[in-house]
Amino acid sequence: MVGLSDAFTLLHPAFAVVFVLPLIGLVVNLAWQTRQRRLQIAAIGKSKIPPVGSEHQRLGRWLTGAVVGLALIGLSHDPVNSILTDRLWSKQPFYVLFYILLFPATIASLILLYQAKEKLWRGVFATLCGMGLVILGCQPAVFRRTDEWYVSHYYIGLVAAMLMIFSLAILPDIYKDRSNRWRIVHAVLNSIAVLLFVGQGLTGVRDLLETPLSWQTHYVEQLYQQNCKDKNCNIQVSPAPRQPAPAKKM
Ligand code: HEM
Ligand code: HEM
Repeated sequence: MVGLSDAFTLLHPAFAVVFVLPLIGLVVNLAWQTRQRRLQIAAIGKSKIPPVGSEHQRLGRWLTGAVVGLALIGLSHDPVNSILTDRLWSKQPFYVLFYILLFPATIASLILLYQAKEKLWRGVFATLCGMGLVILGCQPAVFRRTDEWYVSHYYIGLVAAMLMIFSLAILPDIYKDRSNRWRIVHAVLNSIAVLLFVGQGLTGVRDLLETPLSWQTHYVEQLYQQNCKDKNCNIQVSPAPRQPAPAKKM
């Protein structure tokens, strides 16, 4: 069995693989059928595809919550580890309190977004929820890979989460708008989201490969510090045996 610290590292990838990725598959499949049915009815007045739009909407609402939750778990990993190992609560208690409060604030904004009916409030809560994710992502301990942003699990993940929040925010507009403008905006943006999710699968497994088990962390840090990728280096695998102290002259 893995220890508590390693289980925390695996929580995010496990949730992604067991719950979120299958849900994305279901939502995309229903989206395709919804669109095909609508186009067939528009062209020939009938379709053999059953009406699955409301099922797509129901699972889509779940997907927004699942992706935001997944991003929150991923974003918490490095900062929580840093707070625990550096004992930050005794050095910077207000920072730790502010950091912890950001989680319920972001989740509350999402819950209120689910319930909001008016355009104004949907906009407000979607913005607050997105801001919560961005502020959590700006914490110094979060690994962002900014120099290679185009293959960064962090940036791709945040954009994908924002697109899901946006889908939830415009949901009533998709139905209200007879010109199908919002429907098309939704379909285009979420086709991009599908590509981003594929990117998350690829960058996520890469990042998992680069994440050491907790007992290995100390040695792997030395590999990076000594730049062992490019030059020969010497890693101290176990604590050096203590030299016997020289006998004191009387
Ligand atoms: C990977 C994610 C998603 C993709 C690829 C996707 C794609 C689509 C597509 C192609 C359509 C049909 C557009 C048309 O009729 O031309 C659609 C409809 C719709 N989507 Fe999504 N969508 C996704 C996620 C979501 C989410 C997260 C929500 C809600 C939070 C949502 C809510 C809706 C609604 C309400 C409709 C209209 C359904 C109907 O006609 O009854 N979708 N989506
Ligand atoms: C919907 C798909 C996903 C989203 C939206 C997502 C989002 C995120 C976010 C926002 C972070 C924090 C930033 C970072 O540390 O890079 C993160 C971290 C991470 N994710 Fe994902 N992720 C997804 C899927 C996956 C998958 C499929 C895997 C692996 C199988 C994975 C593995 C990881 C790992 C290893 C970390 C790093 C944790 C650490 O900092 O040590 N993710 N993810």
